[in-house]
Amino acid sequence: MKIMKSTAIAPANIAFIKYWGKKDEELRLPLNSSISMNLSNCLTTTTVEFSDKYTEDQFILLSNNDRKKTLERNIAISENETKRVIKYLNRIRNIAKIKEFAKVVSENNFPSSSGMASSASGFAALTLAAAVAAGLTLSEKELTILARVGSGSACRSIPDGFVEWKYGKENSSSYAYSLYPSSYWDLRDIILLVNSDNKKVSSTTGMENVWTSNLMEKRLKEIPNRLDKIKLALKEKNFPLLGLTCEQDCLSMHKVANTQKPAIFYWTNKTEEIIKKVKSWRSAGLEVYFTVDAGPNVHLLCQGKDERKVIEKLNESYSGLKYIINKPTSGVKLTDKHLF
Ligand code: DP6
Repeated sequence: MKIMKSTAIAPANIAFIKYWGKKDEELRLPLNSSISMNLSNCLTTTTVEFSDKYTEDQFILLSNNDRKKTLERNIAISENETKRVIKYLNRIRNIAKIKEFAKVVSENNFPSSSGMASSASGFAALTLAAAVAAGLTLSEKELTILARVGSGSACRSIPDGFVEWKYGKENSSSYAYSLYPSSYWDLRDIILLVNSDNKKVSSTTGMENVWTSNLMEKRLKEIPNRLDKIKLALKEKNFPLLGLTCEQDCLSMHKVANTQKPAIFYWTNKTEEIIKKVKSWRSAGLEVYFTVDAGPNVHLLCQGKDERKVIEKLNESYSGLKYIINKPTSGVKLTDKHLF
């Protein structure tokens, strides 16, 4: 029997310019281009096996709380998430012209309170593992296009380091590519894990109603200029320009979310308090900036040379708060360490 099993490992990414809104829900064609950095310490490993021994598709997400490979480690996955993975497997089976069902096992090395099926790292790892297991040979560009259909931001976790996702008018022109490799600039993204009592609204659901916000049009008009600024900041390694532009785009995205109908508030009081603190540290001369995705966690952006100072400040003000320190890292890759 042919071996149709493969494992891939992929990083999450933090968007400097955010993807918020689609012009095609099915193909996940975004309304704007976005730019991100891959995160070295937020990784998903996924093993996919297609085999005629399976009578249906299975998707298992393992928790990272213990190292024992037992079934108790399984994290509950919603029906919708499983459906989304199966739909994606169908797409791959169609392209590869195979019929076998698959077993998919995923593990995140970072806390995932809710399932991570829709995360960037999740779909990037699934894309490479499933494509290789299905016998497909795809270029990096083709992989980004495939990953994008699984979850938009996942396409940015395929290439190395600092990545742009071109919005594109149709499937083949909406892809991601590396602007600079991970070794180009020694930056940090320190993710502060802020607990949320709010009911989580997924990014997919959150961005369905972008046009109900009267600020969306303004946001889209401003984005080309911010993309240029981020590219210039990267080119010249101008950290204040990078940081300030990230903050502007983050605020713009959240203002849209806050004014959508129904309104979405991803921030908690803690999120806001930390942001104020970041600004005060900056006024005192520390080069640290913030950005926030579709949740309450605050991402602190700084240069490698300032990591220690930022951590000191954090420990002074928020001693109990958990955080994850990330450097820029490469994109998705294969590994021979299968999860089953
Ligand atoms: C706020 O990629 O999770 O993190 O395509 O519906 O799966 P879907 O959305 P997703 O959205 C990410 C939104 C964001 C900003 C970003 O990463 O660009």
